[in-house]
Amino acid sequence: MAFDVAQALRDRHGENFELHGQLMNPQLARVLKTLGFDRFYVRGEGAYLYDDRGDRYLDFLSGFGVYALGRSHPALKQALHQAIDLDLPNMVQMDCALLPGLLAEQLVARAHPGIGRAFFCNSGAEAVETAIKFARHATGRARIVYCDHAFHGLSTGALALNGGKEFRQGFGPLIETTEVPFGDVDALARALAPGDVAAFVTEPVQGKGVNLAPDAFWPAAQELCRRHKTLLVMDEVQAGMGRTGAFFAHEHWGLQPDIITMSKALSGGYIPVGAVLATDSVFMSVYSSIERAMVHSSTFGRNQLAMVAGLATLAAFDDEDIVDRARRTGVAFEKALQPLVERYEMLHQVRGKGLMIGLEFGKPTSRSLRMRWSALEAMRTALFSQMMVVPLFHRHRILTQVAADNMNVVKLLPPLIIGEEEVEYFVDALDDILRDAHQGPGLLFEFGRTVAKSSLRRRPRPVSAR
Ligand SMILES: Cc1ncc(COP(=O)(O)O)c(C=O)c1O
Repeated sequence: MAFDVAQALRDRHGENFELHGQLMNPQLARVLKTLGFDRFYVRGEGAYLYDDRGDRYLDFLSGFGVYALGRSHPALKQALHQAIDLDLPNMVQMDCALLPGLLAEQLVARAHPGIGRAFFCNSGAEAVETAIKFARHATGRARIVYCDHAFHGLSTGALALNGGKEFRQGFGPLIETTEVPFGDVDALARALAPGDVAAFVTEPVQGKGVNLAPDAFWPAAQELCRRHKTLLVMDEVQAGMGRTGAFFAHEHWGLQPDIITMSKALSGGYIPVGAVLATDSVFMSVYSSIERAMVHSSTFGRNQLAMVAGLATLAAFDDEDIVDRARRTGVAFEKALQPLVERYEMLHQVRGKGLMIGLEFGKPTSRSLRMRWSALEAMRTALFSQMMVVPLFHRHRILTQVAADNMNVVKLLPPLIIGEEEVEYFVDALDDILRDAHQGPGLLFEFGRTVAKSSLRRRPRPVSAR
């Protein structure tokens, strides 16, 4: 019998967490249940998710930055339906299909003039792996320099560039890398000086913590790379595609990286895709002769559905002026959040660029609040930011995330299509929760109650073998 997705979703409704708990990563199911995030979502549209009770959630996580255009964008759906109905000759492999060429043309045209070619793959991590290989080949050097707090994916090459030790533990030994503090020109100069570094791989705005380097760092970093013949690799997987109010975030500093990695939003949220843009000379080093035509490739790399998702996404970006819209909304959002920094001692900073925003919480100045803060932090580092995320979800039905382990930063990564209504709703919700956090222990009790209630819920029933 043909698979009927609607029927399957109806028949097995509500078994989600049991299935994950028993057959997949059990800890994910566990943590979501503990926080009371175990909802049964049935639909997504625009900036909103809907659950089986008909409740609506404002999605300020957007699939870790995938849904720049929001969910279920009609133009993307139409293009993908059309592509399937055309019975395209997909992945012939011994072929140069048109659609990958069209997407390469679009992406190269949007990059700086030094970028000449594109390689397609399936994810952000795979794009980073490609960048590492290309840089090593083009320079004949092995070492990669990366920044503390960096995140470039979790495959073994990308893991060697991860600023979070907890991610790496137990997975070594990894490739030769050197870590430098993000934004520290002198440290970068020291790391590049021996002349054995293939690439400096960096995010233009760091996702973990939403960290920005001083403006002056970027031209200096680029100059150092040029001087030491190290390639500059900009990982635009998260910050790229309009997220920061420019198509590529590195445009804010007028940079001309040798390699650019992309993924997430290019998929339109439908078909996984990754892209690596690079100079001609990098490409011609890797693909230097006819024998090397397949030296780096990936079975699903030029999947035509992914190419259609990318092309339709870029067309919608242009039609709806998404990049400038994100810039304008970002400015208005930060302006609306700033008064809360003045009003609430525990909100220390609002930072970011465009619609990549970090809310940093920290120790209050007044004595009574300081005691409450210290008691919380003694229970678990960065518990306060978790205490923000949970009531934002339960009271106000807004989905956000803590920016990184052990960091009191809540990250906002909304779809780029949000407007005044969503900004106002979020600011009011945050105001409400911060007011409670500064008034008494009520919010802490509410948080404790949510966690306790979730952990007391019935034990998962066994998954039926059907
Ligand atoms: C900057 C950056 N690079 C790479 C990745 C890895 O992407 P993926 O999860 O698609 O492998 C991420 C994912 O969050 C990212 O933010």
